[in-house]
Parts: sequence; structure tokens; C-alpha cells
Amino acid sequence: MLIFTDISSIKSHLNKLEKVGNIIGFVPTMGSLHNGHLSLVKKSILENNVTVVSIFVNPTQFDNSEDLQTYPSNIENDIGLLKSISDEIILFNPDSDEIYSDGIKSHQFDFNGLDKHMEGKSRQNHFQGVATVVNKLLSIVEPDNIYFGEKDFQQLRIIENLVFEKKINTKVVRCETLRELDGLALSSRNSKLSFSSKKIATNLFKALNFAKEKFSTLDIFEIEKKVREKIKAHSEIKLDYFMIADEEKLEPLISGNNKKNRAFIAAYISGVRLIDNIKLY
Ligand code: PAF
Repeated sequence: MLIFTDISSIKSHLNKLEKVGNIIGFVPTMGSLHNGHLSLVKKSILENNVTVVSIFVNPTQFDNSEDLQTYPSNIENDIGLLKSISDEIILFNPDSDEIYSDGIKSHQFDFNGLDKHMEGKSRQNHFQGVATVVNKLLSIVEPDNIYFGEKDFQQLRIIENLVFEKKINTKVVRCETLRELDGLALSSRNSKLSFSSKKIATNLFKALNFAKEKFSTLDIFEIEKKVREKIKAHSEIKLDYFMIADEEKLEPLISGNNKKNRAFIAAYISGVRLIDNIKLY
């Protein structure tokens, strides 16, 4: 497996591959890979001749230095997992100085309101940081296709908006959330949960399913109230938000409409922040 740590080497390698007609797929990650990431990598391998995976824990998207410091990381294990899928994957594993040679700071983007609620509201500058790094990575890899999981649905919409507004010649491919058998969405942060916290965390998916079940019969405020009550019954869970919103603009829904809607949830379980969402159609 080829591993690059500097921008100029990976750029010149990919340029050569592109010149001879290769289609490039790209999976950006912050490492601590799990089956959710691996399903994105496998999809990219199926749909492209070349697959690039980046592993870079991006400092500008953390609003809290403790969260950044304790973000799980295990590069040797990640390399092993990627090799077990294919030795042909190209890994880009730069350090902060390489990516932020202009200083560790975010650029400012206008997301047309997509960052107004949920993660954008709870985590200051989070999406400016995400967009900054993804924009940099896109200009390095110049992929034909880039793969994002729907678990981070707001992030996915922000990137779709970025690619559209900047007229970047890359297709954003949406990939369904992978779950444990008990419904817990796969996330690198799950590795920070104890066995019992993991069990408690399944209540987030249960709450989302409750919303889905009641969406056509109950008033939205009633659903939100009941979800809050359900979550409150578990003292280990600290709810950040529960929200029903339309998929396109991510505006909170006040009453039913014909659009494609989703229910979103974020909560702390034993201090670990988890997010999840499901479609309601
Ligand atoms: O979803 C992630 O892992 C990160 O937000 C991303 C897209 C790799 C940017 O750092």
C-alpha cells in the first residue's frame, strides 16, 4: 500500500494516474476506522479505478481541546484494516504542518443557513473547520467521487453545498449509516464507551425510531416532547438536541410537509458525544 505524508508527492502521483484515464474515488477520514468507514472504502473501490483514503485528525473542527486530545487514534490498526481490503488503496496521512502550512485556522464559508441548527449551533466553528479541511483535501486529491456517511448528515449537506457553490468537479456520494445489530450507529467515538454505556446509547436509535413510527399520526411538538421524556428517563444520557428537519435546507419542521424529512439527535453518554439520524420517508 502506498502511503503519502506530503502534498506534493501525492499530487504528482495522482496526476500521473489521472492522465492515463483513471477514475479517482476519495474517502476522507479522521482515522480510528470502523466498518462504517470500510463500507465507504469498499464502495469507492467498486466505483473507481483508484481509491484514496485520508487519515487526518483535523484540529480546526474541534471546538474543545479536550475532545481533540482524546479523539481515538490508532494508525497501525487503521493501516492493517485498509490492507485487509486492498493493497492498492492509496493512503494520505499528513500532519498538521503539512495541511495547515498557512497556520491552524479555518477559512470562512457561507453555508446558506445549513449550519444554523444542530451541530452548527452546538459546536462553534465546527463546520468552518470541516469545510476548510475538506476543501484543502479536495484540491489535493481532485477526486471524481468523494464518499460521505449519512450518519453525519448535516456534514454531508454542508459538503454538497460547498462542492456546488465552488463548482468543484467532484460527485458527492451519500452512503447509508452502518449500525450494530442493536441499532447503535457505528462511530469512532463508540470506542470510548464502556459496554454498559454502549447499551444505553441504543436509546438514541430507539428514540429516532419512535419519531419515525409516530411521524404520520402525531403532531411534531408532541413527538419532540415524548422523545425528550423518553431520553430523560435515562439519567446517563444528556440530550443536546432532538430535531425533525427537512433534508434539503435542514430547517426545523413545524408541521408536516411533503418534503423528505429526517429526525436528528445528539446526546452525551457518559461524557461521549454521539449523533444519529434517520429518514422519515
Ligand atoms: O467525518 C469526518 O471524519 C471528518 O469530519 C472529515 C470529513 C474527515 C473532515 O475532517
